[in-house]
Amino acid sequence: MTILVTGGAGFIGANFVLDWLAAGGEPVVVLDKLTYAGNLDNLAALRGDPRLVFVHGDIGDAALVSGLLGRHAPRAVVHFAAESHVDRSIADPEAFIQTNVVGTYRLLNAALTHWQALPRPEAAAFRFLHVSTDEVYGSLAPDDPPFAETHPHQPNSPYSASKAASDHLARAWFHTYGLPVLTTNCSNNYGPFQFPEKLIPLIVRNALAGKTLPIYGDGGNVRDWIYVADHCAGVRRVLEAGRPGEIYNLGGNQEKTNLDVVRTVCARLDAVRPRADGRGYAEQIAFVKDRAGHDRRYGIDARKAERELGWRPAESFETGIEKTIAWYLGHAEWVEKVTSGAYRDWMTQQYGGTGA
Ligand code: NAD
Ligand code: TYD
Repeated sequence: MTILVTGGAGFIGANFVLDWLAAGGEPVVVLDKLTYAGNLDNLAALRGDPRLVFVHGDIGDAALVSGLLGRHAPRAVVHFAAESHVDRSIADPEAFIQTNVVGTYRLLNAALTHWQALPRPEAAAFRFLHVSTDEVYGSLAPDDPPFAETHPHQPNSPYSASKAASDHLARAWFHTYGLPVLTTNCSNNYGPFQFPEKLIPLIVRNALAGKTLPIYGDGGNVRDWIYVADHCAGVRRVLEAGRPGEIYNLGGNQEKTNLDVVRTVCARLDAVRPRADGRGYAEQIAFVKDRAGHDRRYGIDARKAERELGWRPAESFETGIEKTIAWYLGHAEWVEKVTSGAYRDWMTQQYGGTGA
């Protein structure tokens, strides 16, 4: 028995594979295109481990995917692969449509053909788990209840629109063809191996480098933050016991403004790696031009996953941030290696000469 994990060299996918194998899960076939966000170093701890097969390729390559499904006969596909950064989707949406929409369509189709040919017991046990985001639900007003699974999709960015499209495809492949699809919609993740273009690792890196800490707009935008290991545990639990055709929201129950997030990171760094001049890292905060169409608030109601599956996040924001900062401080070499080439070009395009 194996499982096929797409995007397993990215931030959440790599955490998932590491946790899965550490917990004694079946062997894993990772399919990853190794875009700027994919990094085989994330799986370095598994180098030489016969339980991991890495395949360099595109989820949109139907022949490749069909060949993998035929050769490895996985009992499940866990689909993380995506273009995932909102700012990049605003600057250049094309890759988001190709991977998140067309790629997911081709993957679903290949999985369907594979599933239809399986003998009955294997077909009944097969699962396609589609990993998605709370951003498909749109933006909440300050007093709105958090997103439940029944909330309409109201995506506002090219990224969230492409993910919403993929959620709809996943839903349709269940309803029309019967493919046993599960969908998870999770809130903002943070933790080890997150690419330093995303808020929390960007702030850690810039703080230590003495650069400005760029906060978009007034810093009042709210996100619900979840430690990545909690998300991975949720995905494992949904795969194990979720009902095909169902959506499960996963979230950290930790809604914070961006300004609060940055201040918390700064305070932790002040405690464990104080600035040489004795001043606080928060002095490096700079308010910069807002993101176009910036969603004001995301919040997740994850009570269904708790009620039906007994899943709930283990970390608070404070404990998760402690772990995350300890990891980044202990992995300066990883950060340096990923912050080369394409990443630097992107930073110049995004932040210009602000030194961010
Ligand atoms: P990431 O950008 O760090 O990693 C994406 C991975 O997918 C990379 O390894 C990349 O090489 C690979 N990939 C991209 N295009 C591919 C293609 N065409 N074929 C094969 N591989 C390809 O993303 P992440 O933050 O780890 O997110 C993983 C998934 O979780 C995404 O589907 C994302 O929408 C979802 N999600 C992310 C968050 C978050 O806060 N990061 C929250 C909720 C849901
Ligand atoms: P991000 O990590 O890009 O995740 P998402 O947009 O998918 O939620 O951003 C999290 C929040 O932080 C979002 O409201 C945008 C904001 N942000 C900044 O204020 N400054 C930055 O440099 C970045 C990258 C994000």
